[in-house]
Amino acid sequence: MKSRPSRPSSSRPRRPGGARPSKPSGRGLASSRPGGRPAAKVPRPTARHADETPEGGGAIRLQKLLSMSGVASRRAAEVLIGEGRVTVNGVTVTTLGAKATPGVDDVRVDDRRVKAAPPARYIMLNKPKGYVTTRRDPQKRRTVMDLIGGIREYVYPVGRLDFDTEGLLILTSDGDLAAKLTHPRHDVPRVYEAIVTGVPDDETIDILRRGVYLDDRRTREAGVTRGATVHTGRIPTTKLILTLFEGRNRQVREMCAQVGHPVRTLQRVRYGSLTLRGLPVGAWRDLTTDEVEKLRESVG
Ligand code: URA
Repeated sequence: MKSRPSRPSSSRPRRPGGARPSKPSGRGLASSRPGGRPAAKVPRPTARHADETPEGGGAIRLQKLLSMSGVASRRAAEVLIGEGRVTVNGVTVTTLGAKATPGVDDVRVDDRRVKAAPPARYIMLNKPKGYVTTRRDPQKRRTVMDLIGGIREYVYPVGRLDFDTEGLLILTSDGDLAAKLTHPRHDVPRVYEAIVTGVPDDETIDILRRGVYLDDRRTREAGVTRGATVHTGRIPTTKLILTLFEGRNRQVREMCAQVGHPVRTLQRVRYGSLTLRGLPVGAWRDLTTDEVEKLRESVG
């Protein structure tokens, strides 16, 4: 099931990374010119200002340009630059501070011209249980990609929801925004509704708030509130609402298990400024321009 309101009109042209350092992905690269040499007459690099941004049509760091174009992740692009495989206007660039202007400068990797990046895509999916959050699963289980068929852009999930977790998952082709959203430095809140076994008392709630040790590292302070308790089965269950500012592996499940209240069901209901707001389980939609802007603002 899917629903598709209009795509954001102000999406910045960005593409994800993901290629291995030694091997550009091929996306964003035009085919090799015959002869394998740079053009004899090429414009010199344009004048640059440190604070110019792509929105302003200015120069940006080469590794960012390459990652926005879908050629390689930023880190992989840095390796390509270091290996002397990147040229700007015919000149090999090996310094990481170098800049180029998308759509103006002739940027090449292994002599293949880097094409200007198409607009990025931003999707919100209400992930059902029983899907793996990945683009491809070696075990051939169903993945979240199976739920968003027909998307041409190279979108991939921002962070991860467990196989058995439901809820709000962003998928995007904007590698830069994805990296910022998942970095703990940006304090992006993720809100989860967990149904746990038993009835956690005040002291337990407080322990969860202050943090517990997972793999020898304490979880960050979290918001935790207790909702209703239901006494239908032999053992009561209680709803907990947890606001986390990090995305560690199976974090809610591990935290709750550690205080003796294992999770029965788990749903993410909010990610940053986004909420599911009526999006049915299994459905997806494009984010609006406003929603994308708010996400960007939240990570500076
Ligand atoms: N915490 C979990 O335990 N699982 C998720 O999928 C997300 C957060």
